Amino acid sequence: MRWSSLIKKSLLVLVVATVLLAYVQRDLLLAAFETNPYRGSSESVARGELIWTQHCISCHGPDAVGDGPASAALPKRPKDLTMIAPAPIFPDGIVAFRIAHGKNTMPAWQDTLNTEQIWDLVSFIRSKSRR
Ligand code: HEC
Repeated sequence: MRWSSLIKKSLLVLVVATVLLAYVQRDLLLAAFETNPYRGSSESVARGELIWTQHCISCHGPDAVGDGPASAALPKRPKDLTMIAPAPIFPDGIVAFRIAHGKNTMPAWQDTLNTEQIWDLVSFIRSKSRR
């Protein structure tokens, strides 16, 4: 086999793998381009704090550093959310996606909270940012 044909085959495999990955993770990829419609709104932060106190504080703690009373019993404690990189490095849409869909022991909230409430939570988390 000539080198050129080997390179062509490798490129084809790479393209197919990329397309497959994009297809499987398409919701996550699309989420990366969504921005918080309430970014910078103090009303949104205040609404988010109320929802946070009701649903999130038990694991994540009052300041989102991951020290809620229920966190000690979890197999893996939640990360310090005040250290999440700001958008666009870590996009708002990905934070919202994680809240909606959950991750491992982090519950999914898409059936409990509506889109506006999830953005309000993103506003609250961003307001606690130390980055
Ligand atoms: C039962 C405990 C629990 C509750 C309740 C909970 N979380 Fe989490 N959360 C976790 C854990 C554990 C992780 C880390 C998951 C991992 O990376 O394995 C996490 C991770 C996260 C992350 C980061 C995801 C990432 O990309 O790494 C965000 C954002 C988040 N939670 C927001 C929230 C919000 C907002 C609420 C309330 C609506 C909430 N969580 C309620 C346990 C919880």
